[in-house]
Amino acid sequence: MISTWMDRGHAALYVLSQRMVGADLARRTCLEALAPRPGDRILDIGCGPAYYLDHLPACDYHGFDTDRRHIASARARYGDRGHFYDEPYGPEHAERLAPFDGVLLLGLLHHLDDEQASSLLALVARSIRPTGRVITLDTALYEGQSRLARLIAKNDRGDFIRPPRAFRRLASEHFASIEDRIVGDTPRMLASHYMMELSSPVSASA
Ligand SMILES: C[S@@+](CC[C@H](N)C(=O)[O-])C[C@H]1O[C@@H](n2cnc3c(N)ncnc32)[C@H](O)[C@@H]1O
Repeated sequence: MISTWMDRGHAALYVLSQRMVGADLARRTCLEALAPRPGDRILDIGCGPAYYLDHLPACDYHGFDTDRRHIASARARYGDRGHFYDEPYGPEHAERLAPFDGVLLLGLLHHLDDEQASSLLALVARSIRPTGRVITLDTALYEGQSRLARLIAKNDRGDFIRPPRAFRRLASEHFASIEDRIVGDTPRMLASHYMMELSSPVSASA
């Protein structure tokens, strides 16, 4: 019982920190870009407490996170709406669960070094249907960013905050089509994020 409260407290603090800088609105922008249809198979890697699940239609949702407390909180709140795994997404999961129509990597790649990010993107490219899409969203540093957004980015816990071109280069090894944009750095969304929409997995045509 006590551990359930602590798990929920941990997740609640995370969600509050997201709302304070408008990062929750950036997540909504990502869901709008993915535009899943009811029944779609959705993979969410680094799902955290999955607090944005209310904004998805009824999908066949699979959320993975290495933080046990986040997964416990997600299961407690959304256990009837999705499948949650407190482990990294690996080839054995791909074998069992793929193909997916859509994949969310929200706030994940800036926690992974280049080798980890590239191997995960390769696995994701093999895990989606040829028509599937992947949405990524990450804290980034770039020229022209406001001082406040830069300050928020510098306080992010990710160890691999990159300029947009570095995220794009990693994705281009595995996806032939990349659409990207900056989300946020506005009065309603103080934090700025770099978002990519990836499609045409290279493994599908290789
Ligand atoms: C910034 S949070 C994002 C959570 C959620 N997607 C969101 O947008 O609110 C990043 C999450 O990635 C998880 N994470 C880090 N490395 C991971 C990995 N290799 N596999 C799965 N999850 C990972 C962390 O535990 C953390 O919950």
